[in-house]
Amino acid sequence: MATDVHGLPILITGVAGFIGSHVAAALLARGQAVVGVDNFDQFYSRQRKEANLARVRAATASGAEFSFHEMDLTDRPAVAGLFCQRFAGVIHLAAKANPRVSVGDPIGYVHANVYATAIVLEHARQQFALDAGVCSRVVVASSSSVYGNCPTPPFHEGLDVTTPISPYAATKQACEVMGYTHWHLHRQPVAMLRFFTVYGPCQRPDLGVSLFIDRISTGTPITLFGDGTMARDCTYIDDVVSGILAAYDRIPAHGYRVWNLGNSTPISVNEMLATVARVVGKAPVLVPGKVQPGDVQLTYADLTRSRAELGYEPKTAFEAGVRKQVAWYLEERR
Ligand SMILES: NC(=O)c1ccc[n+]([C@@H]2O[C@H](COP(=O)([O-])OP(=O)(O)OC[C@H]3O[C@@H](n4cnc5c(N)ncnc54)[C@H](O)[C@@H]3O)[C@@H](O)[C@H]2O)c1
Repeated sequence: MATDVHGLPILITGVAGFIGSHVAAALLARGQAVVGVDNFDQFYSRQRKEANLARVRAATASGAEFSFHEMDLTDRPAVAGLFCQRFAGVIHLAAKANPRVSVGDPIGYVHANVYATAIVLEHARQQFALDAGVCSRVVVASSSSVYGNCPTPPFHEGLDVTTPISPYAATKQACEVMGYTHWHLHRQPVAMLRFFTVYGPCQRPDLGVSLFIDRISTGTPITLFGDGTMARDCTYIDDVVSGILAAYDRIPAHGYRVWNLGNSTPISVNEMLATVARVVGKAPVLVPGKVQPGDVQLTYADLTRSRAELGYEPKTAFEAGVRKQVAWYLEERR
């Protein structure tokens, strides 16, 4: 990753979350100063997020500075105050992040994902307008869910994504469209990153691998929604972080760009369960359930563009990644 010429910090939103905390730690380890914000959204426990922040703070052993602000990005005056400080750029990862849950809370998801993104983009723009060398780019988390039940896998960035099947996916698509308009009007580079089911240490507790590790380890029944053939292109956190940093470095050369950050190897729910069971050394207790509204059948990334333009190359095989996540889980429970 290129060293920032101004020595300014990079702003990371959602820094107490799963992906944000890993990105912050990686930047700090490279000597890049970071300012992080998070509102400790109640979707999962504050304790987990505080533990993520402790890991971020440990990465300041490199000598790079980290400061944290507890802040809701929908609070405009608070965000205006935050942007009194100058940033090298922004990595905007904060969001409400579960398609299934969004079905029952479309307004909350639009508020946290679309409205907050508009606020972040607007304040980033104002800073960029004062000096084009400052706040030189914005990287935003999108999602593979924008592909909906697209009939032509693997999914490439040029496909029509105007038929998302959950409010969450619709908010991510809305952010992508806003990002394009932002670039078109203001020439501040914006990257939109479509993450595909990210897993690894500190993974959100609602996501499949995390849930399966916990339930199988504790002998708790798992509701299997559908027949287990539903598949996700599970992508290890370190691979995703390398893609985010490459996108941050390279977006100025593109202006506006959407990139897939996936693994291009979908794993069925049945395979996920079998792998976790093998690594944990216990059999799962399964309870049959129906496919849930908002769930897509398959996610599968075409990586042609991100390989060519970002040099992105996922390196972690699923079972190797699960082993690392199980090791982290056991360590946390000690
Ligand atoms: N994890 C995945 O597999 C995955 C897949 C696709 C897209 N994404 C996207 O990547 C991003 C990070 O996901 P994650 O898995 O790390 O989720 P996460 O929930 O662990 O992290 C998101 C963080 O954002 C914070 N946040 C939410 N609303 C906020 C607000 N209004 N103001 C300030 N902070 C707020 C939350 O408290 C949380 O700590 C999200 O935008 C998500 O939609 C994740």
